[in-house]
Amino acid sequence: MIFRYWKWGKIVLSLLVVAIIYSFLPLVHFWFMQGSEKTENNESAVNLLKENKGAYFSFIVFGDNHSGLLFNDASTIKEIWHMNREDRFRKVPIDFVLSVGDVTLDGKREHFLNYKKMQKLIKYPVVTAIGNHDDRDLFKEFCGENEFVFINRNSYFIVLDNSAGELTEKQFEFLEKKLNEGKSYDHIFIAMHKPPFDPYQQEWYNMDNSPWAYRFRKLCAKYNVDIVFSGHKHMFKHEEFDGVDNIVTGGGGMLIEIPEADGGYLHYVRVMVNHDYVTYETRKISPPLWEIVTYYFWKEALYWARNLYGSGYIFGRNVKKVPLRVSGVNDQNYWIQ
Ligand SMILES: [Fe+2]
Repeated sequence: MIFRYWKWGKIVLSLLVVAIIYSFLPLVHFWFMQGSEKTENNESAVNLLKENKGAYFSFIVFGDNHSGLLFNDASTIKEIWHMNREDRFRKVPIDFVLSVGDVTLDGKREHFLNYKKMQKLIKYPVVTAIGNHDDRDLFKEFCGENEFVFINRNSYFIVLDNSAGELTEKQFEFLEKKLNEGKSYDHIFIAMHKPPFDPYQQEWYNMDNSPWAYRFRKLCAKYNVDIVFSGHKHMFKHEEFDGVDNIVTGGGGMLIEIPEADGGYLHYVRVMVNHDYVTYETRKISPPLWEIVTYYFWKEALYWARNLYGSGYIFGRNVKKVPLRVSGVNDQNYWIQ
């Protein structure tokens, strides 16, 4: 009897091994792929948009692919495969892809060369913002300008460089001038690497209380910015400040350390503009199977195990949660940690 099950077990195991190997193959193809030459940069990509007509279109936003590490590249390649199929129903044109930065693992020349290969795999024009991991000189060489505006149909796009952490006075002047210009368009979108708020409050990234972030958010509200896109934290997060949508889309490939339930998953965002309407969808992409068995399964298992005996937080201590009744606040339980 047991031998009969063992036989089926072997078949299932063999199929699993085959599937794991199969999930690795796109990466092998990528390694042998030619064409990391610098054919497209921000200027040439933006130029391709000039002839676009009509007020019904889509674009894709992703971030933090961190090209140059095997795990990251395999995930990004899978995301690109999905991006390239976004227009399969021919309902709405996908005009371009916007990256919110950290295109390289560590800013090295070979990482940029890798990113250029990624760019070649994407069938739409690619516009790239700079991230804190991207060397400034090499970014200029491979991707072009790091701060600029461009127009696509009825929408105005502002790309900012806040890779150093905050926006300078000069950048605020630039931003407000451009926001004024953008007023004559139906929509304004902003892309920059670091979010002007804390997408994950327990994480070390602490920007919510920074003066520049507050000032930036108020400025976006004043000029009715539609969406601010950023990355930096490897997760998806949506917040609204004064009617302005803020989307953190840092799930473009980098190994994700944040729990999936809190937004720590691979994804990109597809935005649709239909005249005066703007909508978006988050495309959650499952990692390649070989990454699930070597990393993602164990990441989630670790949080699950930690939740069994204490805090499931990333950097949490193992403390007992105690409910606390706060006086003056009705029917609210707060938790002391
Ligand atoms: Fe990053």
